[in-house]
Amino acid sequence: MKFVIPGGTGQVGTILRRALSAAGHDVVVLSRNPSGPGEVHWDGATPGPWAAEVDGSDVVVNLAGRSVNCRYTPANLRQMMDSRVHSARAVGEAIAAAERPPRVWLQMSTATVYAHRADAANDEATGVIGGGEPGVPGYWGYSVDIAKAWEREQEKADTPHTRKVALRAAMVMSPDRGGVFEVLLRLARLGLGGPVGGGAQYVSWIHDRDFARAVEFLVARDDIEGPVNLAAPGPLPQRALMRALRDAWGIPVGLPATRWMAEIGAFVLRSDTELLLKSRRVVPGRLLEAGFDFRHPEWPEAADDLVRRLRGRAAR
Ligand SMILES: NC(=O)c1ccc[n+]([C@@H]2O[C@H](COP(=O)([O-])OP(=O)(O)OC[C@H]3O[C@@H](n4cnc5c(N)ncnc54)[C@H](OP(=O)(O)O)[C@@H]3O)[C@@H](O)[C@H]2O)c1
Repeated sequence: MKFVIPGGTGQVGTILRRALSAAGHDVVVLSRNPSGPGEVHWDGATPGPWAAEVDGSDVVVNLAGRSVNCRYTPANLRQMMDSRVHSARAVGEAIAAAERPPRVWLQMSTATVYAHRADAANDEATGVIGGGEPGVPGYWGYSVDIAKAWEREQEKADTPHTRKVALRAAMVMSPDRGGVFEVLLRLARLGLGGPVGGGAQYVSWIHDRDFARAVEFLVARDDIEGPVNLAAPGPLPQRALMRALRDAWGIPVGLPATRWMAEIGAFVLRSDTELLLKSRRVVPGRLLEAGFDFRHPEWPEAADDLVRRLRGRAAR
């Protein structure tokens, strides 16, 4: 099959390209700065010659969006929103105008669309959508607004011959350089892998190979459309996640960080504490119901596997 992946130059795109190419698919990535074979220029917002790649393709997986790992300044928030909404709109327009539209359009969304909660898990049917929940900083609602606007853009696209799925993805854990797993491991190795802000907040995650397998599964399943959670069935509290990561690497201690220490750390790292403190308890209701078989459902085993691969890469 021919896959077109707008925004496929980042962390998730690297994972998908690797898996899809290994499975023998043709992959074309749309980038604002194409730099190698299989990469085609687009601006992420307006129609252009890139639309010819979409016409006649089998699958489009749109991953484009400004990184959310940044300070939430007004300018950054605007870019986080616009890059997602405008790119989804442009992809929808290209599909609508195609003579031979793709069979399926997988649009990246995020597990952050669900409310901050630890009391129960959010699946697609009964989960609580976030925004305005009590006891959390008001500005956290903006990430939910972005996710909703992103999904809305896909929903309203007039693409009657193309099945549409929104990927509500949790943190994708891979051994790649610069990915979230490497960042967490680096903190743990510095002795900072303890609970943050109490550590009771849940972390949802998905192993990179399960992520790629889930994408292929959703491409094959003509009966599935709309939002789908891409998260392992075993989300866990942040303190347990970090403890298992320390065990996997062999690090005996992890210093706890209070909320204000997290604020300083996030400032230094030019990031935002929402990424650390929001409780994301998200489970893959629809994937499990459809019979998807997770190879890495629980974190301690997944962390062992990722550490093994990361060490293997370092040894090469
Ligand atoms: N990583 C995760 O665990 C995770 C989990 C849930 C959801 N997501 C979402 O999945 C998507 C991909 O994640 P990722 O980790 O691969 O992100 P990433 O590494 O930041 O890559 C995203 C890509 O989007 C493109 N992009 C950046 N700013 C843009 C802009 N203003 N307009 C158009 N394109 C722009 C970039 O490609 P070019 O510079 O080549 O154009 C970049 O390589 C993101 O939207 C992210 O929010 C990620």
